[in-house]
Amino acid sequence: MRKQIAAANWKMNLTYQQGEELLDEILSAGVKLNEHQQAIFAVPSPYLLMTRSTVEEELNYFASAQNCYNKKSGAYTGEVSAEMLNSINIKYCVLGHSERREYFIESNAMLAEKVNLCLENFVTPIFCCGEPLAIREAGTQNEFVATQLKESLFHLPAEKIKTLIIAYEPIWAIGTGKTATTEQAQEIHKYLRSVLADQYGEEVANEIPILYGGSVKANNAKELFASPDVDGGLVGGASLVAADFVEIIKALK
Ligand code: 13P
Repeated sequence: MRKQIAAANWKMNLTYQQGEELLDEILSAGVKLNEHQQAIFAVPSPYLLMTRSTVEEELNYFASAQNCYNKKSGAYTGEVSAEMLNSINIKYCVLGHSERREYFIESNAMLAEKVNLCLENFVTPIFCCGEPLAIREAGTQNEFVATQLKESLFHLPAEKIKTLIIAYEPIWAIGTGKTATTEQAQEIHKYLRSVLADQYGEEVANEIPILYGGSVKANNAKELFASPDVDGGLVGGASLVAADFVEIIKALK
């Protein structure tokens, strides 16, 4: 079975102490994951080591960065490289979140460079795609997300792309409480998988987890994750509340 993943994206929230407390509460719920399930915590950079050492005792719980830079190293004050993440044993990094694309003007080409640097440094990208409201209203969301994949990922050989995690996050559903319906999520996830299959074949496409993000909550996760092409979620707001995120982990197939 393809990996099923509950990924928390804390964004720029919580103090260090609140983060520690949240992780302790989540872990004390004692949810055991099987071999195809994972819980991943994308936390602010200063909390990466604490998060890694807190969750690494539990099978299939991991820490993730929220971003890294598109250069190997050098005079880029304030930035974090993929090599640095690897050097502290952080194995995941969210790339191309819509907030980064919007506020930090990250282009598909820049994200392709970040993807390469992560892979060279043994860091698995959690690659985000998703359309804004105007594109959804115009009905051109499929072309929009296919272009994001093509321009940032399709230079990769099959053996590399099949190690990635993709997250589909419609921008109109992020932090708005407006979730894509289960049908909308399944439809576009199935489409994304077909785009991957056209390029790399069905076997490769079937190995890549595609997470849904955008107002995933404790009360809608089970229904969303039940769809055949939805392999879990990338969760913002609800990942900041221990009881809610525990329910979301439990909702994994
Ligand atoms: P919300 O779950 O708060 O809508 O955020 C989704 C998101 O952006 C996760 O990366």
